[in-house]
Amino acid sequence: MRVFVTRQMTARVEAALASAFDCTFRRDPAGLTPAEAAAALADYDAVLPTLGDAFTAEAFAGPVRARLLANFGVGYNHIDVAAARAAGVAVSNTPAPELTDATADLAMTLLLMTARRAGAGERLLRAGQWTGWQPTQLLGAHVSGKTVSIIGMGRIGRAVARRCHHGFGMRVQFFNRSPLADPGLPAVQIADLRAAMQADFVVIAVPGGAGTRNLIDAAALAAMPAHGCLINIARGDVVDEAALIAALEAGSIAGAGLDVYAREPEVPAALIAQERATLLPHLGTAAEEVRDAMGMMAFDNLLALAAGRDLPNPV
Ligand code: GLV
Repeated sequence: MRVFVTRQMTARVEAALASAFDCTFRRDPAGLTPAEAAAALADYDAVLPTLGDAFTAEAFAGPVRARLLANFGVGYNHIDVAAARAAGVAVSNTPAPELTDATADLAMTLLLMTARRAGAGERLLRAGQWTGWQPTQLLGAHVSGKTVSIIGMGRIGRAVARRCHHGFGMRVQFFNRSPLADPGLPAVQIADLRAAMQADFVVIAVPGGAGTRNLIDAAALAAMPAHGCLINIARGDVVDEAALIAALEAGSIAGAGLDVYAREPEVPAALIAQERATLLPHLGTAAEEVRDAMGMMAFDNLLALAAGRDLPNPV
């Protein structure tokens, strides 16, 4: 089976793929354009794509040889799944437990860094401007015991909730599309998004795609208290980036911790200028064992296709 791997994988994953398939490993760090995606679909039996590869409707318009997009990552908003289906191409993803935990860990990293002004403190120290301990220097927000709202209580949202509840004694509330009978810990479901935004910390954990684009718009941001911090580990376009910048500039929220951006890798200069924003380069799952687990899950889906078995992780 000819497999096109769109980005460099860990050594373990590349070795596994190469042991089972006739693989082409692309070394370009940029995502595939729709034309490159179309060429991959025409030339290979399966593709292992990832975030940033434009498998838009246009990519499926020509001849298609591929039968599977074994996506590396849990999010697949870069793939037009309906167009894939119509072209006879299945799609799988990698909801590995390691991915869930790593992404939730990164949400806490951002929450703590933003609340406690860790980025600003590090910049001050590295600039040689630290003059010594001061009772009133770089005062941030206390985290333990505060209220967190989790927007999207799926696997990752629930993992964030566990960390907030068990680790930091926070009061957990959440907004979720469907009612959740048992969130697994003391947590209150709030039916109205704007009401859910009224918390000390808001963590966005919904899937990306058309259904959630700009879910966190100017009105939702306006519902946050002035001391509130917004954390986004989901997809950048879930938040109206211009409205977020306006809220930070106006001081109507206290901070933002972001791992994702609307037009990655582009980050607006106005966001970079914000001292109260913690900005990470989409590091959610960036640990070797996590990327190994994700890659091996994509590999298992390719093996299933080759053996004519049901895909373990269809989307
Ligand atoms: C990373 O963002 C993923 O979707 O797995």
